[in-house]
Amino acid sequence: MTAFHYHPDQLCGEDGPLTSVAERFGTPTYVYSRGAILANYRRLASGLTEIPGLICYSVKANSNLRILSLLREAGAGFDIVSGGELARVLRAGADPERVVFSGVGKTVAEMDAGLAAGILMFNVESAGELELLEARARARGKPAPVSVRVNPDVVAATHPYVSTGQIIHKFGVPTDEALELYRRAAQSKHMSVRGVACHIGSQILEVEPFLKAMDEILSVAEALRTMGTDVEFLDLGGGYGIRYADEQPLAMERLMYGLAARLRGTTYRLIIEPGRTLVGDAGVLLTRVLYVKQSQQKNFIVVDAGMNDLMRPTLYGSYHEIVPVEQRPTEKLTADVVGPLCETGDFLAQDREMPDVRAGDLLAILTVGAYGYVLASNYNPRPRPAEVLVDGHEVELIRPRERVEDLMAGEVP
Ligand code: LLP
Repeated sequence: MTAFHYHPDQLCGEDGPLTSVAERFGTPTYVYSRGAILANYRRLASGLTEIPGLICYSVKANSNLRILSLLREAGAGFDIVSGGELARVLRAGADPERVVFSGVGKTVAEMDAGLAAGILMFNVESAGELELLEARARARGKPAPVSVRVNPDVVAATHPYVSTGQIIHKFGVPTDEALELYRRAAQSKHMSVRGVACHIGSQILEVEPFLKAMDEILSVAEALRTMGTDVEFLDLGGGYGIRYADEQPLAMERLMYGLAARLRGTTYRLIIEPGRTLVGDAGVLLTRVLYVKQSQQKNFIVVDAGMNDLMRPTLYGSYHEIVPVEQRPTEKLTADVVGPLCETGDFLAQDREMPDVRAGDLLAILTVGAYGYVLASNYNPRPRPAEVLVDGHEVELIRPRERVEDLMAGEVP
């Protein structure tokens, strides 16, 4: 049984009907399944039993404190990319020794915060960053734990906005330069070299690019060994693709098998930074139909969630299935599902075959647990949605809906 299923014609989140969630908390509301998140985590962790390693949940996918706590309790570490994410994982009780800090633009304040917290390692992405990190560590009198993010120059089919592992991208440094940075780091008493990192992109469905990337970071680690520097961690990043429509999700078992074959008999510990894989299919967005507009050319279903609540369709052309919360026999129609914002780009689906819905009906937009709420904005001064966690029959409000007053906080007329 999946977390979101019909029983018998009512869409449920775990054991309770979503109509009652909408009645209690209003719409639009993000609903997450505790069971689905934990099942996703356990599936990944069980695939890693043969390889000693650490799952560092990529916080950017969904940074709600309750979800961070849930994953921490399950055993996850964290991959962070900002001081804000660091503060969040610490608030959720993270062990700093299980936190890796990625990102091309770390500021002095963020480095200082990471050093003060005692994180596992900074994944350094440029010579300038390494230099600054060394200076901050010197000022603090405590060595900075570093790995260098290698850009392995592998092509991985995905949306161009989330492809990161080629030389044309801003991320990481080429292998030669990485070795040069490691030489500098190894010579400095203010830095301790802990790993080699990479991250080739997001929503990747093929195993091979990951294995190529692993081969590349392994060869860097081996080159470091001959230079007399041993690293403990090989960080493969995240990017493991899931199913949104009819695509085959990444064959995680095949990837783990390939990784195990490469790492067996070595002393390296594997780090992976999954985001979407852990939370993507564990969330839906509940929205209510406001109006149905029919013109000669097109049908529009106007709902109370817009591009400010869920950016992915307009930002990446992403597909999210949209289903009625209460199923009843109806005709089908082809329609655009659109929000209330004043932009033509404000759509959640285009030319989609939909049930013949009416004003007041509830819809659920599926597979929005990752990069849903976190990308939401207040555009067209719209309060961001509520977030709710379901667990069996229980429903917990894990972030209240913003109020219009919140949107004006700190401003003066
Ligand atoms: N590690 C690093 C260094 C990353 O930059 C990312 C994602 C991840 C791990 C996690 O990737 P995941 O396992 O979730 O694919 N907003 C886009 C996705 C952006 C991904 C950015 N980096 C979307 O909605 O598809």
